[in-house]
Amino acid sequence: MSEIIDGKALSAQIKEGLSDRINTLKSKGITPSLTVILVGDDPASAVYVKNKHQTFINLGLISEVVRLPAETSQEKLIEQIEKLNKDDTVHGILIQLPLPPHLNSQIAISSIDPSKDVDGFHIENAGALLTGNPKFIPCTPYGVMRMLKSKDIYIRGAEAVIVGASNIVGKPMALLLQMAGATVTICNSKTRDLAAQTKRADILVAAAGKPHLINGEMIKDGAVVIDVGIHRKEDGKLCGDVDFESASKKASFITPVPGGVGPMTIVMLLVNTVEAAERKAGITPQREGII
Ligand code: GUN
Repeated sequence: MSEIIDGKALSAQIKEGLSDRINTLKSKGITPSLTVILVGDDPASAVYVKNKHQTFINLGLISEVVRLPAETSQEKLIEQIEKLNKDDTVHGILIQLPLPPHLNSQIAISSIDPSKDVDGFHIENAGALLTGNPKFIPCTPYGVMRMLKSKDIYIRGAEAVIVGASNIVGKPMALLLQMAGATVTICNSKTRDLAAQTKRADILVAAAGKPHLINGEMIKDGAVVIDVGIHRKEDGKLCGDVDFESASKKASFITPVPGGVGPMTIVMLLVNTVEAAERKAGITPQREGII
C-alpha cells in the first residue's frame, strides 16, 4: 500500500510558517492583499474563488473579489486590471481562469503588472522560470514541488512523466522538475500510447483534466503519483485524474482528491502574495528551496 501525501496537513504547516513573515509586514503597517477578478458565473470558478478568499480572510489578510458580468469586453477587463496595477494597496492580482470564450486570457494576463502577477502566468514571469531564475512560480506546480520535498522524494535522475501540457500546470511543472534534475516527458491528448509513457514514470503527475484517466495498470510499482485533477461525479463526490483505488496499490506515495494538491495550490497563492508584499516593502523573500 502507498503512503498518502496529505496536502491539507502540509498546507496548514506552510501557513503556520508564514505567520512570522506576515507579522513582520504588519509591524510595518503592511497587510498582504490579493484581488481576484472573476468574469461570468462559472460555478466551479465561483467555488475556487470563494475558497481562496476565505483562506486569506482567515489569516487576517486582505482579499477582494471583483465580479464582472460574462459579457464584459476585453477593453473593460483591461481597464479594471490597469486600475488595480496602479493601486498601491493591492499586492497581488489574479484573473480566475477560464475566461468567457470572447476574451483573450493571454492579453488580459499580459496587462497585469508582473510584480503583482501572483499566478506567475505573465510572460515575464513564465520567461523567468524558463530561464532558471523564477520570481513568481505558478501555484499548483509550486505546491507539487513542496509535496515532493515534504517526503524527501529524490528527483535528480528520476523519470518524471506529466500528463497534460497546460500553461497553468503541465508546462511549468515540467520546467520545475527538469530544473530539479529529472528527465521529463510531457504527454498530451495526442500521445500515441499513454500507458507506455506513464509506466516509465518514477514520478507521475496527472494534470489532464480527465476523470480517472490513469489507473493502476498504467503505473510502475513504487512510483510517486501526483493527482492534479478535480472533478465532481454524478453522486456529488470529488475525484481526480487518477483512479485512487487501483493506483494506491502500486504507488509508493500518492496524493488524494480531495485533500491533496487542491489545498497546496491555495497556500502557494498565499506564499506568492506574501512574497509580492515583501518585495514591495524592500524585503527579500525567504523562499524555501524546492529544487
Ligand atoms: N483556474 C484553474 N486553476 C487556476 C489557477 O491556478 N489560477 C487561475 N487564475 N485560474 C485557475
